[in-house]
Amino acid sequence: MKLHTVSFGCQMNTADSEEMGRTLVGRGFGFTQTPQDADAILINTCTVRQHAEDKAFSFVGTLREWKEANPNRLLIVAGCAAERTKDVLQKRFPYVDLVVGAKSIEQFPEIVEEALKEKFSWEKDNVGVWPDEGNGKEARAHCAYVTIMRGCNYTCTYCIVPFVRGREIYRPAAAILKEVETRVREGAKEIMLLGQTVNSYRGEGEIVDFSDLLKTVAQIQGVERIRFMSPHPYYFNDKLIETLAATPQVCNHIHLPVQSGSNRILKLMRRNYTRERYLEIVQKLRAAIPNIAITTDIIAGFPTETEQDFDETMDLIWEGGFNGAYCFKFSPRDGTDAANLEGQIDQETKECRLARALELTEDMGRKKAQAQIGQVKEVLWHTDQEGFSRDSYKVELLNGQKTQAGSAQPVNIEGVKSRKLLGRLVS
Ligand code: 5AD
Ligand code: SF4
Repeated sequence: MKLHTVSFGCQMNTADSEEMGRTLVGRGFGFTQTPQDADAILINTCTVRQHAEDKAFSFVGTLREWKEANPNRLLIVAGCAAERTKDVLQKRFPYVDLVVGAKSIEQFPEIVEEALKEKFSWEKDNVGVWPDEGNGKEARAHCAYVTIMRGCNYTCTYCIVPFVRGREIYRPAAAILKEVETRVREGAKEIMLLGQTVNSYRGEGEIVDFSDLLKTVAQIQGVERIRFMSPHPYYFNDKLIETLAATPQVCNHIHLPVQSGSNRILKLMRRNYTRERYLEIVQKLRAAIPNIAITTDIIAGFPTETEQDFDETMDLIWEGGFNGAYCFKFSPRDGTDAANLEGQIDQETKECRLARALELTEDMGRKKAQAQIGQVKEVLWHTDQEGFSRDSYKVELLNGQKTQAGSAQPVNIEGVKSRKLLGRLVS
């Protein structure tokens, strides 16, 4: 039996898909990259913006024929959009077997057990089947995603996540450490710790907070690199900055979403920090960690945003000196406070502001990439020619030079292709 997984949205979703995939692998499935060969397809959806939801559902729509060709096949739709729309989704796509909302991911093993009992005869199908084909994700095998918390206690007024993922729950530190050890044994060199507001983590015993967790993960033998996604500025205290600076395994790239540079808009977004506080964190990070790369998220066209508010965002992007940014048009999500605010911004203005933010961040990103030429960077190779530096640049070897996937080596950076760095192994 073969499983094909498709994940939309953030890394949390990718990690959840892997977790659900492991459940199915534990029940005798192997992975396939080709939907046509699959006996089960798992789609993990995103609803953070309308566009993300539309993309996921249009993909579900394309699977009607696959399912009708063999009704014994199993089609699972999981994740945030599944949580938000549940019955509507089932009505719109009656051929979907299982809808598993983001809040039920922890119960996925029991939910899927029932469905599998109905669909597959274990004695017959399990003979000689073993998941020995790999999961088709070898390219990322050296980097393991480890979820440390789920949900969010914030109520940013534009955000649907607290509705679909619920309040924060923290995974016990012992379970996290055990998973990290397992992943390292399987070949991971880099660990990506994941949570909606990853640095609000609360542990137990010696591991009180996220900083303590970072230090403990760094002590595990074989962990060469640690990353985390996404921290919230509110929890970015001095202890965390000191920990990052004192823990060499932690990579010198931080993704720290700011959303807006206007204090008035930040307040309306209920972000719980000011532009001054945000820029103070950036400045402290730069002082503590040499050559740190910082990226961010920007929302353009939040309700009531004026030209002046948006100019303040553009100024903040400039002052922040970001290496890159994800920029989004505000997307009103049903049920959120921001969707009901008066003063919604028209599409054209949103698009125009988005274009300005994109132009500036892309230009800054290109210049930052150019400035890397002449440096030597350690690259962890995901394939025999491509890998990532500690500051999260994709690096490609020049002139067809090849190396061994999974190893880490210093590279002389000699050029730039868009934002990818090109280089040669240091001989
Ligand atoms: N509209 C636009 N962007 C949004 N994001 C979250 N909700 C919305 C929304 N309603 C963006 C934020 C967040 C990223 C994951 O998605 O920038 O950091
Ligand atoms: Fe959404 Fe805000 Fe929570 Fe991030 S912190 S998931 S933007 S509510």
